[in-house]
Amino acid sequence: MSTKSINFMLNKIDMDRMPKHVAIIMDGNGRWAKKRLLPRTAGHREGVERVKEIVEEAGNLGIPYLTLFAFSTENWGRPKDEVDTLMKLLVEYLKKELNTLHENNVKINILGNLDKLPPTPRKEVYNAVEKTKYNSKMNLNIALNYGGRYEIVNGIKLLVNDVKSGNINLDDIDEDLFKNYLFTKDQPDPDLLIRPSGEKRISNFLLYQIAYTEFIFTDVYWPEFTTEEFYKSIIEFQSRKRRFGGI
Ligand code: FPP
Repeated sequence: MSTKSINFMLNKIDMDRMPKHVAIIMDGNGRWAKKRLLPRTAGHREGVERVKEIVEEAGNLGIPYLTLFAFSTENWGRPKDEVDTLMKLLVEYLKKELNTLHENNVKINILGNLDKLPPTPRKEVYNAVEKTKYNSKMNLNIALNYGGRYEIVNGIKLLVNDVKSGNINLDDIDEDLFKNYLFTKDQPDPDLLIRPSGEKRISNFLLYQIAYTEFIFTDVYWPEFTTEEFYKSIIEFQSRKRRFGGI
């Protein structure tokens, strides 16, 4: 896409009504590769290029929270070489991009249980989180070994512990307090959730947080989800009327 048409689309975006939190289910890497007679892992590799592009673009647009679904609790069931490649791509991404992300004041947060991750990706992830923990321009949440139901059940366990130890009274528990027990603690709920690839389901993503989120389902595969597609989604989001249950 030419710079001229990118600028044309950018002009349609209202910078004062930017979503604060955008969540993306990065789907369709395998189908993108299949269409080109390439191995599935080539699709994941191209998917990482879009990760770089969209993270940078979200920063340019001043979106303070971006959540990317990188690996679900169900993804362990994929063939070993595909799981290994996904872990390798994550490590490569962090190794290559960490300094740039840090210079750009991006804070990396992980949503999910890291215990099950192999030692190398676990170490890289902890290092990235540690290095960027005081950054404040943008939060990049990477959902890794993440499941929405797991997150809620895990939150309940933590909350019950706090009740048992007397830190919280049963009467103090409400919807907002419970948010403190989720991986997205202290973060606003997503305003916009995007799922490429033509699938129209949530697949166990951010179940508690998406109560009033706007959904955009688009047919392009994640490796095709370029800046232009991202702008289109933001423009579509800004055309929606959000009522939060009111009239
Ligand atoms: C879904 O496509 C995608 C994934 C399971 C992995 C997404 C991961 C990346 C883009 C790379 C690693 C992430 C980071 C943050 C560096 P699919 O394989 O389910 O596609 P299909 O439905 O077409 O088979």
